[in-house]
Amino acid sequence: MSSLPTILLQARHLSKSFGGIRAVEDVLIDIPRGSITGLIGPNGAGKTTFFNLLVKFLPPDRGSVLFDGRPVHHLPPHGIARLGMMRTFQVPRVLSRLSVLENMLLAAPNQRGEQFWAVWFWGRGIRQQEREMTDKAMTLLESVGLERMATEYAGALSGGQRKLLEMARGLMNDPKLMMLDEPAAGVNPALIEQICGYIGEWNRRGITFLIIEHNMDVIMSLCDRVWVLAEGRNLVDGTPAEIQSHPQVIEAYLGSE
Ligand SMILES: Nc1ncnc2c1ncn2[C@@H]1O[C@H](COP(=O)(O)OP(=O)(O)O)[C@@H](O)[C@H]1O
Ligand SMILES: [Mg+2]
Repeated sequence: MSSLPTILLQARHLSKSFGGIRAVEDVLIDIPRGSITGLIGPNGAGKTTFFNLLVKFLPPDRGSVLFDGRPVHHLPPHGIARLGMMRTFQVPRVLSRLSVLENMLLAAPNQRGEQFWAVWFWGRGIRQQEREMTDKAMTLLESVGLERMATEYAGALSGGQRKLLEMARGLMNDPKLMMLDEPAAGVNPALIEQICGYIGEWNRRGITFLIIEHNMDVIMSLCDRVWVLAEGRNLVDGTPAEIQSHPQVIEAYLGSE
């Protein structure tokens, strides 16, 4: 019997203003463990800001976040990452002048090698650890079809490949929750299909996903449940089919054209 909470992440009353703009106002979400949960809404609805609040990339004005049964809203970003929440950015943040493999290794959870004296005492252990991290990075790159690019500059990757690299880099830390900000935006249709396949595969291996996405085909094919934000607030949530035909959702999107 497992006593793990069935809700992996629960956010309540999250709020953030920028000057006079209420970007996120009193927003809640429940993310069931093992799910692929969607987060949609017109441009400017507050989706990216909401991500930033969850991982403390930005400090919330108020609100609480429970992750895996414990409050995390008081933790710094690295503390949240260590507990198993990883996010990608709407515009992927990869280091163009480093190789694909080096980008992966930068994410590796560290590490005895960080301390000077540790190098002195544990030299062999560190080399062993580096080998293990390189193996892990190559296995992950292989799982997203980037293994042949490992020694290329990350700057040589296409936009879609950068998104894949960012996801694979997040997986170096064995996250429980991967939060993807528009994984399909600006990606060609063939690669979108592949990305969806990889997400499904990682999900079957036990990773929970929260996905911001405008591409409704992606949302419909992947998500168990979808939450809709509009003008910084919760609008509705439901199954993808319920959401797609929901009058309030249609109105919110039409109103934003
Ligand atoms: N760092 C910021 N400074 C000022 N305003 C911001 C900042 N980030 C987002 N906003 C504003 O907050 C609102 C929500 O933006 P965002 O979270 O990026 O929406 P979405 O991701 O749903 O398109 C928008 O009005 C946006 O202009
Ligand atoms: Mg956004």
